[in-house]
Amino acid sequence: MTEQLDLDRTMQLTFQLVSYVQGGLVSALVYLGDKLGLYRAMHGAGAMTAEELAGRTGLHPRWVREWLYNQGAAGLIDHAGDGRFELSAEQAAILADEEGSVFYLAGMVAGYPSSVGLIPRIEESFRTGIGLPYDAQGEEGAHGVARGFAPWYRHMLVPVVLPSLDGLVGKLEAGAKVADVGCGTGTALLTMANAFPRSEFHGYELSQHALAIAARSVGEGNVENVSFHDVRDEPLPADASFDFIATFDCLHDMTHPRDVIKAIRKALKDDGTYLIADIKAKPTYEENVENNPMAAMMYGFSVLSCMSSALSEPDGEGLGTLGLHPGLAREMTEAAGFTRFTEHDFGSPINAYYEVRP
Ligand SMILES: C[S@@+](CC[C@H](N)C(=O)[O-])C[C@H]1O[C@@H](n2cnc3c(N)ncnc32)[C@H](O)[C@@H]1O
Repeated sequence: MTEQLDLDRTMQLTFQLVSYVQGGLVSALVYLGDKLGLYRAMHGAGAMTAEELAGRTGLHPRWVREWLYNQGAAGLIDHAGDGRFELSAEQAAILADEEGSVFYLAGMVAGYPSSVGLIPRIEESFRTGIGLPYDAQGEEGAHGVARGFAPWYRHMLVPVVLPSLDGLVGKLEAGAKVADVGCGTGTALLTMANAFPRSEFHGYELSQHALAIAARSVGEGNVENVSFHDVRDEPLPADASFDFIATFDCLHDMTHPRDVIKAIRKALKDDGTYLIADIKAKPTYEENVENNPMAAMMYGFSVLSCMSSALSEPDGEGLGTLGLHPGLAREMTEAAGFTRFTEHDFGSPINAYYEVRP
């Protein structure tokens, strides 16, 4: 080595890299805590030892203790002294209370092993340029995507987002026709269908795993006003019959988002509403890094999932996680024949919302 290194800078970079390695390992153990029911067993149960937690979960105490030490050292659970650990109310909101908390986030790591497991195939994508569709992540991947976004839909969509869209709730209450394109496992659609029983709801999706999970949820929930469609056999009809169409966090994943927006315009009534929810993004790398403290995570998701999906066909647009900034969304919707474009901020740290009208 001929160059003189700045030792302080070298040490700082070393710690930075080590902290990323640590983050990956903590995420892996969050996955285990969620999957094995450890957080749920600690929720509201007070301080407990590894033996007590192992007894509650039917797991081996030595393994549970090492998991507790990892999570305690990471600051995700509290050490109460004497080998006992507990979940505070805030920790439970993020790690344990999946149905009741809008802050619940542990489900986000449910797809972690399946997306990290794709790395050998992604290595090949760097050579060929061709990525992988969401189905490559298997059923666990589809569950992971759904569980990451679901808390927001459950708690914000019906009470906060829909009432902010001009004239929409009245139509949904009276009986409207609704589509969710790129609906995944259907959490948003099922949430709306339960809230507006007079309306009919159609989910359009490419992923066989997501569609299979959606079909099970419809059966289990006995929901009658929802149907799901595989876009390859049953594309969105170009019959101007829909009052409301939404795309939740999926335009940037699509190989041909411009064609999908054009199909949405043709499916929508002239007085209909199109809602785009997509990742908050800026036009340039510099602006994304400056404005988004999660930019590195977002670009990571992009390579493993979003851009990969958006390049899963040879002529894919390849937008990726931070690829759909407001200016581009406006341009694409105008090119599809929409004339009105309103930005909404519902306080989500992740998503921007655009109300788009013909
Ligand atoms: C990040 S997921 C979001 C799923 C769901 N909207 C949610 O928020 O949970 C993106 C979804 O878009 C789907 N997708 C990609 N291209 C599509 C297309 N052309 N038509 C319908 N769905 C598509 C993928 O299969 C994937 O399920």
